Amino acid sequence: EKGGYDYFMLKEIAEQPKAVADTLLGRIDASGSLTLDEVRIPASVLREVDKVVVVACGTAFHAGMIAKYAIEHWTRIPCETELASEFRYRDPILDQRTLVIAISQSGETMDTLMALRHAREQGAKVLAICNTNGSTIPRESDAVLYTHAGPEVAVASTKAFLTQLVACYLVALYLGQVRGTKWGDEIQSVIRELDGIGTQVEEVLETMEPVRELARSLAGKNTVLFLGRHVGYPVALEGALKLKELAYMHAEGFAAGELKHGPIALIEDDLPVVVVVPSPRGRSVLHDKIVSNIQEIRARGARTIVIAERGDEAVRPYADHLVEIPATPVLLQPLVATVPLQVFACELATARGNEVDQPRNLAKSVTVE
Ligand code: M6R
Repeated sequence: EKGGYDYFMLKEIAEQPKAVADTLLGRIDASGSLTLDEVRIPASVLREVDKVVVVACGTAFHAGMIAKYAIEHWTRIPCETELASEFRYRDPILDQRTLVIAISQSGETMDTLMALRHAREQGAKVLAICNTNGSTIPRESDAVLYTHAGPEVAVASTKAFLTQLVACYLVALYLGQVRGTKWGDEIQSVIRELDGIGTQVEEVLETMEPVRELARSLAGKNTVLFLGRHVGYPVALEGALKLKELAYMHAEGFAAGELKHGPIALIEDDLPVVVVVPSPRGRSVLHDKIVSNIQEIRARGARTIVIAERGDEAVRPYADHLVEIPATPVLLQPLVATVPLQVFACELATARGNEVDQPRNLAKSVTVE
């Protein structure tokens, strides 16, 4: 069943290129436009949407955070992403022109379900992004975009996350396509790049041995910090969540811009800090800022583990460990940047003798509040 792998998680990590490709299959036509027929919300309604709210929990929430960057950039519709458990208890402002996107691998997460019920009661349209056919969340939504990750057995979500990202990009690009924005050319070119992204995920998977070795060498540590900014910030949060769940280590993700507002006080000699570096192209200002952050933490003794685009020479002098990932459009980087963090957490858990597929205290599907 595990297809020759020791754990389902390893199998599921390896399945990611296919999961990503399957989620794109049939959704991009020959002319490079999106055909999301399953989004049964009429184009006329989507054109009227004036606010998008993404609700989810855990890893799905991190996908939702990335969706916000993509949706606001490509559609210029204000978008907020909120933990489902917070959203439903704070009397959120919703109406007929609000599109709520509920992301859930299992389709059974109670908080996400209650959030979408609340949203529909207020008249909002709900689009589910879900991996489980016929589960409760898609059944109760106005429309569903299924991720085609296949069954995910390991408690720690991996391939479902990557496919949730793909689905979020598809929704963002589709909204942009339907409404027409000044980013029309960019949207076309990103759709093309997204279509080939599985190959880049594959490339990352082929170069993971040094990451595994590094993880084993850190098995005795108590704390690992993760830094990122822009779409790298949710990636940092996801890396930290994986490490908590699997390695039972203190792991925290921060927005790199917040370092000086507190977290830098945590830096001490030989503390491992993973930094997700934005592409040097595109958002180059952010790239330069994060390079300074790496210098700052290293000067205070941190052991820097830097995830950066291949050929990014600016980070090399400050990286104690450099993990190179393929170049992608800025917003798509999480699809390749998350993979080393999954491998890192899985290997650290193994080195610490933990149960990888069934971490203590956790359930695959959280059907209670
Ligand atoms: O099934 P869902 O996507 O709604 O689940 C949400 C979270 O419970 C889930 O992502 C959880 O955080 C994972 N164990 C993370 O690896």
